Amino acid sequence: MTNLYHDANKTRWNAGAENWAKSADDRGLWERCHQEPELVLSPYELRHLRPISGKRVCVLGSGDNQVVFALAGLGAEVTSVDISRQQLDFASKRAEQVGLAIRFIQADVTDLSGIDSESFDVVYTGGHVAVWVSDLEKYYLEAARVLKSKGLFVVNEYHPFRRIWKESRDGLIVGSSYYDRGPFEYDVSEEILYEKPGHLKSYEFHWTVSDFIGAVMKAGCQIIEVSEFGEDLAHWEGAPMNGLPENLLIVAKRCAR
Ligand SMILES: C[S@@+](CC[C@H](N)C(=O)[O-])C[C@H]1O[C@@H](n2cnc3c(N)ncnc32)[C@H](O)[C@@H]1O
Repeated sequence: MTNLYHDANKTRWNAGAENWAKSADDRGLWERCHQEPELVLSPYELRHLRPISGKRVCVLGSGDNQVVFALAGLGAEVTSVDISRQQLDFASKRAEQVGLAIRFIQADVTDLSGIDSESFDVVYTGGHVAVWVSDLEKYYLEAARVLKSKGLFVVNEYHPFRRIWKESRDGLIVGSSYYDRGPFEYDVSEEILYEKPGHLKSYEFHWTVSDFIGAVMKAGCQIIEVSEFGEDLAHWEGAPMNGLPENLLIVAKRCAR
């Protein structure tokens, strides 16, 4: 079914893929993370993910694919799913460069109909994906559908506390209610990291902590860990974030069917 918000976001991510790839070059991690997974996966995540060799893993909203490369480097058989063909094309070339065999699938995370049910041991998603998705419950229902019974569902998202502040050097000023899920409409350019106004549209959705937890549970998963971590982010989108959590991690097991 057509989703106008997702269509606009896809167009924007396709247009911005080249810039995103350049920013990944600046970080210089994509060439290393298959050998040094700790560069892109926190100890909180690795504790649950290891050992992963030989397991079938699906990464939803794979973007720069650094997590995909890290998991493939750990020996997993990884499928990388993203709505943006351009993002996947960059990742596929890079996978070839570092010698990783990865399956790439272009799909919306709320409609994984091209993927069989119960086909993965692990589904991993996050790192700033849910913010682009208008229906969190549908997204996680699809994630749980493609997971085998007792399979692991790992969500590591940017913490909802990052979303609500105004740009300000002086201190935190609430810009939008924590409870306002959006959609927030922006006129944006191809530049994603250093946003400036442009001819493209993007739509963002601000999910709360309980939205994330509720969506994982409604998808038929039993939560085994919830963690909030990271507090050294000096600035996020112009707001001083020191002392607030950067990430929200939810680790769950798909209940037996
Ligand atoms: C910020 S990246 C997140 C992944 C990674 N952490 C990164 O920084 O590149 C966001 C990714 O989500 C993808 N995305 C946005 N909406 C999506 C949707 N509805 N279905 C699948 N992927 C989506 C975008 O194309 C983009 O590659």
